[in-house]
Amino acid sequence: MQITDPLIITAMALVFTHFSIPIAYYWYLRTRWLNRPWNIVVDPSHTPMISVVVPTYNEAGFIEGKLDNIYDQEYPRDRIEVVVVDSASTDGTPERVLEWGNRHPDIALKLVREPVRRGKAYALNEALKHVSGEIVVVTDADSRLPGRDALKKVAAYLSDPGVGAVSCVKIPGASGPGGVEASYRGFYNVLRVAESNLYSTPVFHGELAAFRRSLLEEVGGFPTDIGSDDSHTATLVALKGYRAIIARDLVCEEAIPRREYHMWRVRRAQHLVQHFTKSIRLLSKAPKDFRLVLAAEIFLHLLNPLILLIATALLVASAAMGATTALILLLAGLILLIYMPYRTWITTQLYLLIAMVRNLWTKEIVWRKTEK
Ligand code: GDD
Ligand code: MN
Repeated sequence: MQITDPLIITAMALVFTHFSIPIAYYWYLRTRWLNRPWNIVVDPSHTPMISVVVPTYNEAGFIEGKLDNIYDQEYPRDRIEVVVVDSASTDGTPERVLEWGNRHPDIALKLVREPVRRGKAYALNEALKHVSGEIVVVTDADSRLPGRDALKKVAAYLSDPGVGAVSCVKIPGASGPGGVEASYRGFYNVLRVAESNLYSTPVFHGELAAFRRSLLEEVGGFPTDIGSDDSHTATLVALKGYRAIIARDLVCEEAIPRREYHMWRVRRAQHLVQHFTKSIRLLSKAPKDFRLVLAAEIFLHLLNPLILLIATALLVASAAMGATTALILLLAGLILLIYMPYRTWITTQLYLLIAMVRNLWTKEIVWRKTEK
């Protein structure tokens, strides 16, 4: 027996754990939950007052298109209230909002202006002081609502008193470097929808995040100490015993940055890491069905990347000590990168690891916009 053998055996056990747990979780959700009826009673005639909140920081290029997109919704216009919350934009965004409002007097529009920029969640909490709808829909200025019937569908899902929050699945507008973005989303959408069928999903999306306003008040608004405002709030709603669901018929398209793609993924990974770190202490309070989902996602986002890192470090150390088996395993791991799902997976692990390190000095609560 060589001195490196125990290292290699440990590394292989870690690699096995790293891949088998997500595969088992994916398999379980896909076969048991993805196509199950989700026991939600939908009333399509339910038309409560909806407050659509659009946070903006320097969105002059998008804001009018965004307001048009809300205006074009097939939902009674007198049941919609638009609240734009702007945090000291310097590109004339608020002026464009006011001009648009003058041209469209038949829809209620409020502009809330913050004197300084303190981040999206902070701005959303400011907006909450000005909303009157039974439902609050948060939607990013640079995104579009999924279809003209998006608000109608949101209202229908929330007509079930057991549902507290609704979001959309995402398809990328571009496939990202090497097709990685498209492949990543395909995998994640299956998880999101299946988790929603099971009970609730702990990951929401900024293109469309709808909440019952009473629940937002109960959970104290959006968390300002972490970046993932929508996902964390959805998780708190699920902890209150209400479903936080991603509906498969609400499909948002997301613009993918052409430049700075990697930094964009890292920042968003940072926010997810912050969200799941903050969720650890909530686990014991989670309803039974949700506990499995939350525990699995915490594991996948926080522990699993570290397991891969440790395994790789052990193999590198063994290879450096002359172990050929370790070298062959490392090379195999590299060659496999030509296989797309594997490459997607490994890239995601890298983003999460870089995100964990980066979170040590910056939380990116106020971030620099990535050009798309
Ligand atoms: N009022 C206000 N104040 N709005 C802001 C601020 C701020 O400090 N920072 C960003 N926003 C607005 C943007 O104008 C945009 O409408 C929305 O918040 C999302 O910001 P983007 O810069 O477009 O980020 P993204 O496309 O990568 O956003 C995604 O990731 C974020 C977390 O990293 C979305 O899913 C966001 O909803 C999510 O918060
Ligand atoms: Mn955006």
